[in-house]
Amino acid sequence: MSRAYDIVKKDPNRVIIFDTTLRDGEQSPGCAMNLEEKLKMARILDELGVDVIEAGFPVASKGDFEAVNQIAQVVKNATVCGLSRAKKGDIEASADAIKPAESKRIHTFISTSPLHMKHKLQMAPEDVLEAVKESVSFARKFTDDVEWSAEDGSRTEDDFLCQCVEAAIEAGARTINFPDTVGYATPLDFAAKIAMLVERVPNIDKAVISTHCHNDLGLAVANSLAGVGAGARQIECTINGIGERAGNAALEEIVMALRTRHDIMPYTNNIVTEKISKASKTLSAITGFAVQPNKAIVGANAFAHASGIHQDGMLKNANTYEIMTPESVGLTESKLVMSKHSGRHAFRSKLEELGYELGDNALNDAFARFKDLADRKKEVYEDDLVALIEDEIGQENDRIKFVSLQVQAGTSGPQTATLVLKVDGKDEPASVSGNGPVDAIFKAIREIYPHPDAKLKLYQVHAVTGGTDAQAEVTVRLEENGKSVQGTGADADTLVASARAYIHALNKLLTKRESKNAQMDQSEAV
Ligand code: KIV
Ligand code: ZN
Repeated sequence: MSRAYDIVKKDPNRVIIFDTTLRDGEQSPGCAMNLEEKLKMARILDELGVDVIEAGFPVASKGDFEAVNQIAQVVKNATVCGLSRAKKGDIEASADAIKPAESKRIHTFISTSPLHMKHKLQMAPEDVLEAVKESVSFARKFTDDVEWSAEDGSRTEDDFLCQCVEAAIEAGARTINFPDTVGYATPLDFAAKIAMLVERVPNIDKAVISTHCHNDLGLAVANSLAGVGAGARQIECTINGIGERAGNAALEEIVMALRTRHDIMPYTNNIVTEKISKASKTLSAITGFAVQPNKAIVGANAFAHASGIHQDGMLKNANTYEIMTPESVGLTESKLVMSKHSGRHAFRSKLEELGYELGDNALNDAFARFKDLADRKKEVYEDDLVALIEDEIGQENDRIKFVSLQVQAGTSGPQTATLVLKVDGKDEPASVSGNGPVDAIFKAIREIYPHPDAKLKLYQVHAVTGGTDAQAEVTVRLEENGKSVQGTGADADTLVASARAYIHALNKLLTKRESKNAQMDQSEAV
């Protein structure tokens, strides 16, 4: 059985939320996540209440397979889905990877537009149609829950689209996904295509229709909602709208639009909207992709009221300028939590309250850093603690660790960084001048651990909380041989945070190199 199909059959107004943050989102430049980060996001998505988690593309690499497989082991509520091209090897890889999941789906796709069939696939339409039938019936051998997608669906000819959809359902697909792969559609024509499928495909009642909209014209959310109005009952989306090029439809915008305008969109879903903010912030911290301040729902200004007239209205009645409450998306004031007088016991229970359980060693390190922070920063907020702990957890297994840093900066003389790192357990010092303090620090890291092929692609700083004593959260992206990794670091001192972020990225690069070498060894052995 297909869980999603059964849900929609029982309740025709229920919309299935299919999250592809870990697949379509993760494959976009700069959004790559490692295994631990993917597992962390998968748990958050599961708590958020998404119905389906598209966990990856198992045949793409050993790492992708492993991630989908482990996600299938930890997810408790959602259906876990693996993506596959219309190829037996892809489908077998997905089937193997999702095996441990309680509820599993295989998603298989092939392009159906004239442009893609001719130039990308170099296949005739009859052969594509045959591949649809074969791939779906092959996938059905492994699970009853099979989704089929018409890649570049919005630029596909109607007759051929209907033929493929009918064949896919006949072969056993229980979800039919209609992607606007290149973000070309507008709400009216997207809705018309969905309505056309409902009208013309004779066996359409045997499947749930799904939307998958890209945001190239900024219309992904509008198109998805228009699709639901025309009969779709699954929306594919990502947290913060991450994804190829301009991204995918943003989950938080879709869900809050459905909640806020229930009067004209009487559809339900399973999302616990109060968990949206945490999901957004965690993803942003993991990927280093900052959310634009004026982004709907999760931007820093989404609930800020600056003009005098608005503030006056808000004080009289919040409904004057707020169509939803900050609490409904899980935004609460970051609470003042602790001071330098707080003890280890209070520290541990505060962390537990924030959802962190650390082992003794990690707790000791984190506590020492907290004391240091509390000494330098008068007020330590929950957000400060989260930034510090995320930093600490991220670096637990690193080969290269930050030990100390002294920087000479200012207008006179060369800016110099004197840095000590622990490399595989041994202290390594360097003292280097640079074109500014950050340049000097990064050069010192390169001197201690040379990595000439890696290029710095992004250096970004933002403040965790307000005030001049706020902690800085720094993101660094490095790229080596076309593969990029991202590191983050937090500290009350921006330069220390910069060093930590670079070291974090470098450690990820080393892990990536190691797993690549292991894969090469394996393929040589085969
Ligand atoms: O955009 C797209 O067409 C896709 C498919 C694989 C569903 O991501
Ligand atoms: Zn896509």
